Amino acid sequence: MEGNFVYHNPTKLYFGDNAMSHLATELGNYGSTVMLSYGGGSIKRNGIYDAVVEALRQAGKTVVEDPGVMPNPTYEKVMEGARMVRDNAVDLILAVGGGSTIDYAKGVSASAYCDGDAWERFWVNQESPTGRIVPVGAVLTMVGTGSEMNGGSVITNRKAGFKRGKVFGPALYPRFAILNPRFTMTVPQYQMVAGFFDIMSHLMEQYFAGTADCTTDYINEGLMRSLIHASRIAAKNPHDYEARANIMWTATWALNTLLKCGKGGDWEVHQIGHAIGLVTDATHGMTLACVSLPYYRHVMRDGLHQFVRFAKNVWGVNPEGKADEQVAAESLACLEAWMKEIGVVMHSRELGVTEENIEQVADAVLILPVGYRTLTRDEVVDILRKSM
Ligand code: NZQ
Ligand code: ZN
Repeated sequence: MEGNFVYHNPTKLYFGDNAMSHLATELGNYGSTVMLSYGGGSIKRNGIYDAVVEALRQAGKTVVEDPGVMPNPTYEKVMEGARMVRDNAVDLILAVGGGSTIDYAKGVSASAYCDGDAWERFWVNQESPTGRIVPVGAVLTMVGTGSEMNGGSVITNRKAGFKRGKVFGPALYPRFAILNPRFTMTVPQYQMVAGFFDIMSHLMEQYFAGTADCTTDYINEGLMRSLIHASRIAAKNPHDYEARANIMWTATWALNTLLKCGKGGDWEVHQIGHAIGLVTDATHGMTLACVSLPYYRHVMRDGLHQFVRFAKNVWGVNPEGKADEQVAAESLACLEAWMKEIGVVMHSRELGVTEENIEQVADAVLILPVGYRTLTRDEVVDILRKSM
């Protein structure tokens, strides 16, 4: 292991098909007014809304309804939520949904009592909040982002022309999260497999960096293997509880800061994905899926040793009698076959990337000086072209 780190994750998790039975008691730890934030209405159709409202009633809370959080939540909506928090003196924001709703809730919490322009302070200058933080709790309904146990808040600001992530500190992590795998059973197949790829991408973004022998990479490999195994089962039978539960647990550990302990990360696939999301409003996991193979083929030679390790330890490639480049390339062939098997989008043109908007996408890509290779803008355009 290299480097120094502090590991601190304060989120309390309630996991399993009786997780919801803890909500009313947990709510007792917070003040009387709860803002109930949720998305476009799936929770009303699948019964989760009724179960949450019943827990809020049992806990004697005053509820402020905050519906309509959209996938790829916007800064405008964050500002609306921040106003509602102030106007109603909200004591807890309860986010019921996927990454979009939970990311939004963190953004609202940090922005409600922020001095100055929250977009500039948090998402552009990456400052830490200094104003009052309103606690956030989560009931997770869609698996992938890890937002249930981290400080990430990815917000789209169309006026500014960016989709940007801010990773807040532990004060903004959900104080608690209810993780019931059954709640994810109604997620449509397209969203479900997009979530599976998002998890894989979080694992790969953190795996493909550094050269040291690091325990964190061994943990990462175990999570990748579990995800690959369970996703094959769940893609065919989404109602397989065991597979869905394993995937939910993997997603949480894939992005709750554990896997960055003792090593750097890459995250360029996410930057390209966010730019595609900004321009096309496509589903997050699919934006990552269509750029991953061109990106990893592009950087493979710069991080050859790690791609060889990926081949052997994750995909079971036999390296005997083969050159390292061949072994590494086989890992990406295995990745490609798995992606096709679970059914993710392989081409960015299917998401709306065209010859006409490719430059606009490239302009919105944040180029990070990390991972095995720092891209130039021309390389970004080349990867985008290959992704089409
Ligand atoms: O809006 P509703 O009606 O809830 O429908 C949602 C939405 O249309 C639906 N859905 C969720 N749970 C459901 C369900 N439909 C039926 N049954 C259920 N149980 O699924 C759709 C997608 O939901 P969304 O929350 O947008 O998906 P996801 O969890 O993938 O979140 C994506 C957002 O998270 C950000 C992404 O950039 C994107 O904005 N990310 C957040 C990260 C973090 N906090 O660390 C990291 C990630 O890399 C990612 O960037
Ligand atoms: Zn992601």
